Amino acid sequence: MTWEKYGRKAERWTETAYADANAYLARRAELVRTLGPQLRPGDAVLDLACGDGGLADFLPGLRYVGVDANAEMVAAGRARGREIVEADLNAYVPPAPVEATTIFRAIYYAADRRALLAHIAGYTTRKLVFDLNPRQYRLADVQADLEAAGFDRLAAHPFFVPQTRAPLPGLQLLERSGPVARAILRLRFTLICAAWSGRSDT
Ligand SMILES: C[S@@+](CC[C@H](N)C(=O)[O-])C[C@H]1O[C@@H](n2cnc3c(N)ncnc32)[C@H](O)[C@@H]1O
Repeated sequence: MTWEKYGRKAERWTETAYADANAYLARRAELVRTLGPQLRPGDAVLDLACGDGGLADFLPGLRYVGVDANAEMVAAGRARGREIVEADLNAYVPPAPVEATTIFRAIYYAADRRALLAHIAGYTTRKLVFDLNPRQYRLADVQADLEAAGFDRLAAHPFFVPQTRAPLPGLQLLERSGPVARAILRLRFTLICAAWSGRSDT
């Protein structure tokens, strides 16, 4: 199974996967809240392939539930007091609709990306937020799958927080630099994307 290899990394996932987990996850959480339609206090966030659910600590005021298929990851997250369901993201349906669904560093675990996005659209009322390596996937291809699932609005924001090196002062300012940001993305870093339906715009 695709998730088995994560078991041995589970106990200290957040501490070891990120050079500066606080900086990385705080910035990710800020974009979860603000990119595309805003989230409001009390909104539910379903974090698919959540690992140990480390993102939860950076979303105070939101109702966070993680989903991960790796039993050791689930146990590690629960040991830290996070609410995590053990399930395959391709099949899981939450008991009630959620305002936001997120998928970080895991979009490639979709068995069928277009089908997964349609599945998520069935239970997500405001937006889907995910990250994407634009050197690995063409944004236009992903956008076509999003539109087929009913997510016809897309905001894609450069995310210039290094994962395995210390954050570089000032680099984040370049996220909004247009052509410079696009040149940087040809070499490194990812996009964080929010997708939603125009029908939910008010
Ligand atoms: C690279 S880690 C990302 C963890 C977390 N989202 C983060 O950004 O730190 C990928 C995670 O996806 C989980 N995973 C892989 N395939 C999955 C599936 N089909 N359903 C649910 N979780 C899955 C793994 O167990 C692992 O925890």
